[in-house]
Amino acid sequence: MCGIVGYAGHRQALDVVLEGLSRLEYRGYDSAGIAVIAGGKIAWAKRAGKLGNLTSALAESPPLPGMVGLGHTRWATHGAPTDPNAHPHTDCGGHLAVVHNGIIENFADLRDELEARGHIMTSETDTELVAHLLEDELAGTWPGAGPADRQSAEPGPAGGWPSDGWPADAAGPPRPAAGSLAAGMRAVCQRLDGTFTLVAVDIRDPDVVVGARRNSPLVVGRGHGENFLASDVAAFISFTKEAIEIGQDQVAEIRADSVEVTNFDGSPAQVRDFVVDWDAAAAEKAGFKWFMTKEIAEQPRAIADALVGRVDRDGLLVLDEMRLSDEELRGVDKIVVLACGTSFHAGLIAKYAIEHWCKIPCEVELASEFRYSDPILTRSTLVIAISQSGETLDTLMAVRHAREQRSRVLAVCNVKGSSIPRESDAVVYTHAGPEMAVASTKAFLTQLISCYVVALYLAQVQGTMFADEIGAVLDDLRTMPAAVEEILELMEPVREVARQLAGERCVLFLGRHVGFPVALEGALKLKELAYMHAEGFAAGELKHGPIALIEPGLPVVVVVPPPSQLPVLHDKIVSNIQEIRARGARTIVIAERGDARVMPFADTLIELPVVPSLMQPLVATVPLQVFACELADAKGHDVDQPRNLAKSVTVE
Ligand code: M6R
Repeated sequence: MCGIVGYAGHRQALDVVLEGLSRLEYRGYDSAGIAVIAGGKIAWAKRAGKLGNLTSALAESPPLPGMVGLGHTRWATHGAPTDPNAHPHTDCGGHLAVVHNGIIENFADLRDELEARGHIMTSETDTELVAHLLEDELAGTWPGAGPADRQSAEPGPAGGWPSDGWPADAAGPPRPAAGSLAAGMRAVCQRLDGTFTLVAVDIRDPDVVVGARRNSPLVVGRGHGENFLASDVAAFISFTKEAIEIGQDQVAEIRADSVEVTNFDGSPAQVRDFVVDWDAAAAEKAGFKWFMTKEIAEQPRAIADALVGRVDRDGLLVLDEMRLSDEELRGVDKIVVLACGTSFHAGLIAKYAIEHWCKIPCEVELASEFRYSDPILTRSTLVIAISQSGETLDTLMAVRHAREQRSRVLAVCNVKGSSIPRESDAVVYTHAGPEMAVASTKAFLTQLISCYVVALYLAQVQGTMFADEIGAVLDDLRTMPAAVEEILELMEPVREVARQLAGERCVLFLGRHVGFPVALEGALKLKELAYMHAEGFAAGELKHGPIALIEPGLPVVVVVPPPSQLPVLHDKIVSNIQEIRARGARTIVIAERGDARVMPFADTLIELPVVPSLMQPLVATVPLQVFACELADAKGHDVDQPRNLAKSVTVE
């Protein structure tokens, strides 16, 4: 939620920041803005709407040289997505610019305090407060300064990249700063409650960009003669792969030739370097219309990568960063999976595998609910936190809640250097590569693979499966890239039915066993992309209420369990299909190839390769992704950037 870029180096900051924003736009697209510093002056521009609105406006202005700058792409929290509420925000004197991701919870008190001291707010945002707090901090006037102590100034016009080049210094020559921008930022951060990544520039400290974080993401990119600050490595991947994780309550100060990281109290901070293991090409559309279509197509490769290096020379499973001993894992007697959205659906599926292979009871909870509940956790409970981004605030807070109760946490995560793995006891990376589309696809399949590997690892450690049984499941998992490849080649009927249904208002999804979470995932995809009413149900629940929704012509997608492996459930779902057809539903049936019993009841039949039942979600989800994507495209929606959403949800 909100993408932030900061740059100090030898290139034109405007170009670097705009490129970074284009790669972070998936994080929010309500508005975009930039600020550049050069020659002792600061200029900024911001526009409501997508980044394209800003770049079009900039194209009509004179070029703006400057090697230090910042930028922002917004997912609105405080204040509507308008020009004045777009970031960056400036102080009264127009000396500094600030961008922000997160929510400042003591916003109202701070605003009253600042207004009482004569500060003039020009937006409805919580972010602007930070600019004014920094203003006082840097002028050495806070606390206790009165209105007379400052010269108020007209802010830059909303979206005000000046048509006449650099702005005049709105408040006359700037007063010298009483302290460095970093020191000011540290002091301001200690006054803020809530979640934030903040990045600021100031004409009195013109070579530096300062970033700070609490509960929201911030990474440093370390280049040669240039350094970067960003919400996510994608922003600087074309320039460097060397990155630094910025920890909780830390401030990073970058110049062209240095990076310094301190804690909010000013002490030197411990940081961790890492190297990004994908390159810029992975974050390009590569000829596909949408990132989502590309990421769907990448799934065979992604799930193959998720399996690489999992077995050692002795045939034993190995995991990425297992900071938990086998002895600790042998004592695990309960598993709680925490996640949100699509990752939650991966958890629901993983539960079947965990209980089947490990014989350990497993609960799956929405992270946002878990955090405010009184869960019964002990030291022998293993919490598995699943998150593509590693930054979902609900999941991060749930992880902290679990650790406070002394449970061990294992993160299943895609993004290296993100908060959830950093705060967990162990990490299994999903190795899906960058997922740019808001709708999660390859991340989901790789989460399933990774959870299965974790379950097999636990089965190995706890001895609930023999080595040859684990080997056989791994062999099955290794066939899945080919199975997904196969289903991808059979998607034309799915696209066709999606186009036919573009005028419908509602679609229902039914499944049983692992097909139930698949149904939930199909409905979620359709909601978020096509803005249609879509619900997923356990097919057995139909008769307990949802069947009242069935009316003639209503499209119902049914995920059918494999007949030979789950014959009882297969019989039951065939009956369910007949029940809804009897009431006029139009059935779109996703079933194993050759499933003759179900064929007569399918208005549209989508055939799946034959795979083990626990692995059916890996193939059955793919048509549902394609269905939602195609239907949204047919309706003329922006498939990659659906309305109101953002990829990384860093507010509660
Ligand atoms: O990054 P996470 O996996 O923690 O994100 C969780 C959800 O926000 C995410 O899966 C969301 O539901 C997807 N956009 C759905 O496609």
